[in-house]
Amino acid sequence: MVRKILHYPDPELKKKSQPVTVINEKTRELVRDMAETMYAAPGVGLAAPQIGVHQRIVVIDVSGKDEPPMLIVAINPVFIHTEGESYEEEGCLSVPGYAANVRRHEMVVVKALNLDGEEYTCKAEGLLSIAFQHEIDHLDGTLFVDHLSTLKREMFKKKYRRMLESGEIKE
Ligand code: NI
Repeated sequence: MVRKILHYPDPELKKKSQPVTVINEKTRELVRDMAETMYAAPGVGLAAPQIGVHQRIVVIDVSGKDEPPMLIVAINPVFIHTEGESYEEEGCLSVPGYAANVRRHEMVVVKALNLDGEEYTCKAEGLLSIAFQHEIDHLDGTLFVDHLSTLKREMFKKKYRRMLESGEIKE
């Protein structure tokens, strides 16, 4: 089922998500809904709090248009290693109509559980690395616009408010 994606400045997006303690049929249903919602948007990643569920779960698929889908499910993801720097443009399904460059690590190694409760590690670079960092941020109530300089964030807020008022985007 495609769920409603919460939009900035919804306060639910600022809340910290809790670790998943039991992986059961409800978890699998939630992950199915998250993947459907992400693909329908379409987007390359979605975190549970974006649909109002404060559990530490993210789904990511950075496969290209002509490639087969490659869904990554990360439950209770943590970084065990980070390296380098990148500065690439990002957007977010919860911040429609806005994109900006964000400083991130070039490479990350993530440890997480899959839907069978098995631990795995994933070394990610490029878009996948950025997606992991962006989505895991959501679990701590952080949006990509929170990484902008004060000046750029003020510009973002003004632009976003105008888009909300003009009905270009909806709250
Ligand atoms: Ni996002």
